[in-house]
Amino acid sequence: MEKIKPELLKEHAQRAATFSHSPFSKYPVGAALQTEDGKIFHGCNIESSSYGLTVCAERNAIAAAVVNGQKKFKALAVYSINGATPCGACRQVIWDICGDIPIYIFSNDGKEEIFQSKELLPSPFDDTKLEE
Ligand code: THU
Repeated sequence: MEKIKPELLKEHAQRAATFSHSPFSKYPVGAALQTEDGKIFHGCNIESSSYGLTVCAERNAIAAAVVNGQKKFKALAVYSINGATPCGACRQVIWDICGDIPIYIFSNDGKEEIFQSKELLPSPFDDTKLEE
């Protein structure tokens, strides 16, 4: 079990934001997802000309980790110019895939906030309950 390294996650999320494809909003977002064994996977927001197909940085980071066989996650970091917190859709996916993990929010002005994913999505829909 690796320790969470918030400063390293910030660097990774900030760098991921530089790869953002956001010609419509001009709002780059980067995410860095640390696995339990200490690997870090990245995501940036990718916008579509069919606007609704845009995928947020957080969900792209989760997808990058999952397609590489990762299943257990330790922490997520999100970087944007003004410290955006994850949108509602991402909150559900974070809960589904990562469970209750800390989410570090970073901004360009050095602000840092930490939330638990359970705190960002109280009373989440939980598909594991369908099996009960
Ligand atoms: N966006 C993210 O990537 N993550 C968030 O947490 C909030 C919003 C993206 C979606 C879109 O490309 C742009 O930011 C503006 O909404």
